[in-house]
Amino acid sequence: MTDKGLKYTQLLKEATALLDGETDMIANMANMAALIHETMGFWWTGFYIVRADKDGKEQLVLGPFQGPIACTRIALGRGVCGTSWQRRKTIVVPDVEQFPGHIACSSESRSEIVVPVFKADKVSAVLDIDSRYLDTFDETDASYLEQIVKLLN
Ligand code: SME
Repeated sequence: MTDKGLKYTQLLKEATALLDGETDMIANMANMAALIHETMGFWWTGFYIVRADKDGKEQLVLGPFQGPIACTRIALGRGVCGTSWQRRKTIVVPDVEQFPGHIACSSESRSEIVVPVFKADKVSAVLDIDSRYLDTFDETDASYLEQIVKLLN
């Protein structure tokens, strides 16, 4: 197993223990963002949560995160986050400048991964992670992060 795989295996164990017995979604997202961020040394790690406005229109709204301040609302299909929500799929972006419509919350961000969080069969949130380096994320990140966000159910 790669170094990254080993780190994620340990991370998955720690996240399981950390969330055990706690059902509050915000508390769990907050601790999960902190655990991933600190363990992996990413630039920005956090959640955007699907929320309806007063007219019932759904948007992604900024949730618990670690790192610099970020944009608060993202529409369906916009940026990497809104695209992951719309496609219901993890998206790995090796170079954010090559992703059409990428939303630059920070000019430091160079690569990104967004993983949808499902509740029943619906996307309830996305986990968004940014790196200051190009090409940080691959299939290993995608597969472990997908397992980690499943702990939120
Ligand atoms: N880059 C994201 C926006 C969120 S920030 O990276 C924290 C996007 O394109 O959806």
